[in-house]
Amino acid sequence: MKELLSRYPVSPQATQNTHINADKYQQMYQQSIEQPDVFWAEQAEQFIDWYKPWKQVSEVNYQTADISWFKGGQLNVSYNCIDRHLASKANQTAIIFEGDEPTDDFRVSYQELHDNVCRLANLLKTRGVSKGDRVCIYMPMIPEVGYAMLACARIGAVHSVVFGGFSTESIKARVLDADCQVVITADEGVRGGKKIPLKANVDAALVDCPDVHSVIMVERTGVEVNWQDQRDVNYQEVINHYEPMCEPEMMDAEDPLFILYTSGSTGKPKGVLHTCGGYILYAAMTHKYVFDYQEGEIYWCTADAGWITGHSYIFYGPLANGATTLVFEGVPTYPDAGRCWQVCEKHQVNIFYTAPTAIRALMGLGDELVEKHDRSSIRLLGTVGEPINPEAWHWYYEVVGQSCCSIVDTWWQTETGGILITSLPGAVDMKPGAAGKPFFGVKPAIVSKEGDVLEGEARGRLVMTGSWPGQMRTVYGDHQRFFDTYFSQYTGYYFTGDGAKRDADGFYWITGRIDDVLNVSGHRLGTAEIESALVLHPKVAEAAVVGYPHEIKGQGIYCYVTLMSGVDCQQSLTEELQALVADELGRFAKPDYIQFAPGLPKTRSGKIMRRILRKIAENELENLGDTSTLADPSVVKDLIDNRIVHG
Ligand code: PRX
Repeated sequence: MKELLSRYPVSPQATQNTHINADKYQQMYQQSIEQPDVFWAEQAEQFIDWYKPWKQVSEVNYQTADISWFKGGQLNVSYNCIDRHLASKANQTAIIFEGDEPTDDFRVSYQELHDNVCRLANLLKTRGVSKGDRVCIYMPMIPEVGYAMLACARIGAVHSVVFGGFSTESIKARVLDADCQVVITADEGVRGGKKIPLKANVDAALVDCPDVHSVIMVERTGVEVNWQDQRDVNYQEVINHYEPMCEPEMMDAEDPLFILYTSGSTGKPKGVLHTCGGYILYAAMTHKYVFDYQEGEIYWCTADAGWITGHSYIFYGPLANGATTLVFEGVPTYPDAGRCWQVCEKHQVNIFYTAPTAIRALMGLGDELVEKHDRSSIRLLGTVGEPINPEAWHWYYEVVGQSCCSIVDTWWQTETGGILITSLPGAVDMKPGAAGKPFFGVKPAIVSKEGDVLEGEARGRLVMTGSWPGQMRTVYGDHQRFFDTYFSQYTGYYFTGDGAKRDADGFYWITGRIDDVLNVSGHRLGTAEIESALVLHPKVAEAAVVGYPHEIKGQGIYCYVTLMSGVDCQQSLTEELQALVADELGRFAKPDYIQFAPGLPKTRSGKIMRRILRKIAENELENLGDTSTLADPSVVKDLIDNRIVHG
């Protein structure tokens, strides 16, 4: 059997041409920590074009959660992603579009990107959108989703992209929370041969959103849709009437760029707000160094634009660097599970970035589907979204990468804007399963539950000391929630919500969320959101949701449901409840298991003891811990007797 290494040193061959090598990493990291403002000022000058210089590099106060970078500096993000490349790259491909069907593809040059973005920006203006207004984008993975984001950035509107897999209810909640008055969508999305009725979902959501006055719809499939003449605009019918020139709005570095909703441990999803200057600098710089992006290379990130990975590493980072970025409409298993490698071969992809859940799913389907495609163009493979298990890492490294590509693990969050911990290629050794070392300017620390900072080899909770330019600035409309969620637990630190350990070599290993946030196939979900959906059912009295380890998805969703008295728990009710959650939140949130439970384990003060529920869902019954503080310890026996034994 082949020996599986636990550490792969940076090979001399790999260091020859990378932007950063081990020495340079040390030297730059040191400077970034010792003189952060000097370091970031240099980077901001190098990576970004400014109309006006900033007055102050950074102002950070974690006591009040007030954070600013490059305040007073003026720039436009869409200018930085498009216009400044035109002199040398007007005809270079900015976006390669690969459709759901393998025969469907085309390229968009930087000049075409410019013209398309400007036209849409002008259309938005004529619908009354101006600086500071919020625009909701609910789109499939087609180039127009990028045009929409950049058109907003161009005129200073704040976009809020809602993942195309989200349901009507989720669209409504997000449109209302951000008070969006315009929605950009498509008639339908197409994924894996299936159609998704995006316009119909928007129509249904907007019944309760009276302030939305305009819906711009891109025709993707040409299906017949309901139409409201005053409100709805057909993109294809009107877009060529608009000028392909639109002066970019001058924005302050701290003006908002976008809102992106993400799940937390309590309450409704939070509108994470990112601003222009710090975000685009951090996205551009991490994209260049973490993926070691070299001029002319083809870069493919398989994420969806509805998640932060799509924002930072399909559109903003790569385009700010003048890269060629591939936008993929489909799924890795359609028409067959060799699709990713077929696309890599077809478009000669050099850098491929995906999630461990996709790697695990493909790994299970055999090596032939990989090996039948030529992967010699690929030189770097990335992963994101959850810890990668060493088995999947080795398969990615050996089978996909033929043991000659660097694998870059990237740990970060919607809140961080860009990658914070990583195995920087050519600079940091690869340890399968470890996220790696901090990026420039990032100072992680590990604290105990009580908040003691642990030195050296340690296991505890991951926090950040100090700020970095890509950090979120507030929760839209609720600054107190921003402070409470991230800065109230450990005074003076940003709390990530993740557990982590640091090994003797200073590598960070993420051990998973320590709060009630689940990571299901790389989708972040709050257990509270699923519980709220379940209790909408008239037969449900109470619900508690936990995660359990799932071979492919990372985590699966296990629900304990207490019914109203007198209600029978039939199979049909399980299906109804699964459908209800899928309707409320989206199909990816559909529970795997629902156990009907006459009672839930609660403390005398009424708090549900999730620790016990987690253990039962994991089938780890030996180690239930102390149950003597429960108000009614006998419920545990019932839960165990009726547990659903799986996998
Ligand atoms: O638990 C961590 C996990 O994903 C969470 C952030 O989720 P989200 O905001 O949706 O962003 C995902 C893409 C950046 C983190 O708190 N996570 C993300 N990347 C990794 C990871 N866990 C381990 N290793 C990673 N590389």
